[in-house]
Amino acid sequence: MSGPTAALFQRLTQGVYVIGVAHLETRNAFTAAWVMQVSFDPLLLALSINPNHSSYRLLKEGRSFSVNVLKKHQLDLAEHYGRPRTDKLVSTDWTTDRSGLPILREALAWFACEVVNEHPAGDHMLVLGRMMDGKLLDSEAEPLLYRDTGSMDGAAFLYPTSWGSQAPKP
Ligand SMILES: Cc1cc2nc3c(=O)[nH]c(=O)nc-3n(C[C@H](O)[C@H](O)[C@H](O)COP(=O)(O)O)c2cc1C
Repeated sequence: MSGPTAALFQRLTQGVYVIGVAHLETRNAFTAAWVMQVSFDPLLLALSINPNHSSYRLLKEGRSFSVNVLKKHQLDLAEHYGRPRTDKLVSTDWTTDRSGLPILREALAWFACEVVNEHPAGDHMLVLGRMMDGKLLDSEAEPLLYRDTGSMDGAAFLYPTSWGSQAPKP
């Protein structure tokens, strides 16, 4: 059941992003698909992060994050930042925004947000960020879609084996 469930969830249209975090001079970044706009006024983005990620500690300490939108052909970056290492930025061409958050120079676009709220969401934390800055770097490029990452994140092994019985009873 988990393979078909993963395929089902891949039809929820999601992009693929590299989330940058920083506290003082320590920086890291990780791949995320669970990112979305949730408000116009103020402009808010929501991010769902597994609190076991090393990036979560930096997110908590720095109270901010960047969202780097990946381009269609950047599967290699998605895979690179999808691994649990703390030296991932070394091999990428990056700079920082005004607040010191990592910005990938090859990204399609980037946003910088300050954390305004956090909510537990099952095995993840839902983090709300108010947009502080951002830039479209390549208006011609197509964004990478989560479903095009295939089994890169190993999600097929994380879905429950049955979910119909978990639905709330009417
Ligand atoms: C395509 C893809 C999408 C991912 N989406 C998320 C996500 O939305 N939230 C999350 O917490 N982890 C997500 N991950 C997993 C993290 O990128 C991965 O666990 C990473 O190693 C965390 O980095 P860190 O340990 O350096 O913080 C995703 C991974 C991939 C490959």
